[in-house]
Amino acid sequence: MILGSPYLKDKLLPFTDWADLDLSNEEEESKEEDSNHFLAGNIPAREQGIIMSDAKSKIPRLEHLNEPRNIGISLHHFANHELMAIELFAWGILKFPNAGRGIIRGFLKSMQEEQDHFRLYNSRMNELGVQFGDKPLNRLFWKQIEKMQTLEKFTAILSLSFEGANLDYTRIYKKALEFHGDFVTAGLIEKVYQDEIKHVKRGLAVFKHYLPEGLDDWSYFRSLLEYPFTPRRAKAYMFYPETRIKVGFSGHFVQMLGDFTDEYSGRVNMSSLEKVGI
Ligand SMILES: [Fe+2]
Ligand SMILES: [Fe+2]
Repeated sequence: MILGSPYLKDKLLPFTDWADLDLSNEEEESKEEDSNHFLAGNIPAREQGIIMSDAKSKIPRLEHLNEPRNIGISLHHFANHELMAIELFAWGILKFPNAGRGIIRGFLKSMQEEQDHFRLYNSRMNELGVQFGDKPLNRLFWKQIEKMQTLEKFTAILSLSFEGANLDYTRIYKKALEFHGDFVTAGLIEKVYQDEIKHVKRGLAVFKHYLPEGLDDWSYFRSLLEYPFTPRRAKAYMFYPETRIKVGFSGHFVQMLGDFTDEYSGRVNMSSLEKVGI
């Protein structure tokens, strides 16, 4: 439904409507369903108005979040990320039916919380005068689908990288919004941050489950990422190591992630951070 239906309302179907979904057949030999058949051109169905595109939509600078509309536009970007995460968890559940009951339930729980995050951001941006679909919707996460075709790679990219980076972004935006005096939106961001800690924890549990004996966590993580996707994508332009320690990453992993650079590192103008007191 979430992947196959193009309608936003179906993608947001409340969890309680299908929480009693029978997972009991899971132990039977269920064939690895080709969840890609729900996709067209490596992206899921989307109704008119919420179609993904490559059109550019700039996120407002942190120092411009004194304007309510700019906050709304920023939330539009975040809501798009949430919608892609909802769809990707749905894809992962179909793609990896033999992942085990605990992992599938974790994916379901994360997907439900991504739905909550979408609703929170959507209603707040509506209050600020922005409707979902007003701006182009990029396909940032879905661009990586070919690099996520195993459970381990799916987790390394979606949870350890994208959701991991969101721990930094939620810290940055909470501070920027508080700087500008929007404590309502800052509160929503804090709620999302707390949930994302849980999501990355779930991802880390899957990652550790498959960590080969004798291999360190950082080397294993590197082995799951295919160039040009690098660990740079697992953090924001400002890195908050304490958030990763809170999730349970090893000190070595956090150190290596913090130190990691690639050819795109350092291209972000950091002056915005200073302008909002970060
Ligand atoms: Fe989320
Ligand atoms: Fe998440």
